[in-house]
Amino acid sequence: MFQPDLLHHKRILITGGGTGLGKGMAHRFLELGATVYICGRRRQVLSDAEAEMNRVAPGKVRSLSCDIRDLAGLEETVAAIWKDGPLDVLVNNAAGNFLARTEELSPGAFEAVIGIVLMGTINATMACGRRWLQAGQPGVVLNIAATYASTGSAYVVPSAMAKAGVVALTRSLAVEWGDRGIRMNAIAPGPIPTEGAFSRLLPRPELEQFARERNPLCRFGTVEELANLAAFLVSDGSSYINGDVIVMDGGEQLQGAGEFSALGRLLREDDWKSLKPRKPPKAGP
Ligand code: COA
Repeated sequence: MFQPDLLHHKRILITGGGTGLGKGMAHRFLELGATVYICGRRRQVLSDAEAEMNRVAPGKVRSLSCDIRDLAGLEETVAAIWKDGPLDVLVNNAAGNFLARTEELSPGAFEAVIGIVLMGTINATMACGRRWLQAGQPGVVLNIAATYASTGSAYVVPSAMAKAGVVALTRSLAVEWGDRGIRMNAIAPGPIPTEGAFSRLLPRPELEQFARERNPLCRFGTVEELANLAAFLVSDGSSYINGDVIVMDGGEQLQGAGEFSALGRLLREDDWKSLKPRKPPKAGP
């Protein structure tokens, strides 16, 4: 699908790049010739991921541990990367989420999720954006949003609030920084099986089955599908796409939005026949 040197000379930081979608994107970007930096909170997880990727693309990946909620730590991380040379691309992927009844959440629970998703994205974007602006250098930011950022969603309220903020940031800075060569887009992925997300959001097999069956394509997305879309959006091939949120969910959001859509899965062939008018409707007024 892509030229193997599509991301040659691109230097990319992926937050939360040691696991799940972040790791999948890192793998794909390396395959396409990029130099990749991954950061995350857990040193061992990062080192393992780095070692694994080094076998595929020796010397092209470096991991740095940091909690993106901690502005000082994040600044240090970005400064260390810039010592190697300026980044071209930032992927704000790190996230925190869990299923919970909102009335039972403590302030700390809101803070944890909003801190990672919204403040983490802001911290990383500012650290890279200010450097790009100061140097008059172009840059690309890709944010991982969620389809429920625009609709809201029960049981993941801190995440919905934070992702809505990420979408607002994406659209706002796409305009504010666009004239200085910085592009900013987001992907709103549907359900893609990763350990981190599914253990927290679809923790039982029947919930997983429900989610799969309500998807118009009757399956989950794959990490590879997301990584390919991300590769396109951070590449020069998408250079006129700015401020957009690309939904990649197999049509799940539309299924949820149509008031009667879910009935299609419940009605059987006989039901449809019995619902037909006895006489065909007349044509015309
Ligand atoms: N339900 C309700 N509250 C929860 C919770 C749950 N399932 N899990 C954590 N919390 C609350 C804690 O009780 C704590 O609140 P308190 O300070 O009032 O006691 C607060 O959230 C922070 O939890 P803690 O585990 O100390 O924070 P952390 O910063 O280490 O973890 C999380 C952050 C909670 C988001 C954790 O799930 C995480 O690290 N996730 C990263 C990976 C991830 O979520 N991936 C999915 C992406 S879709």
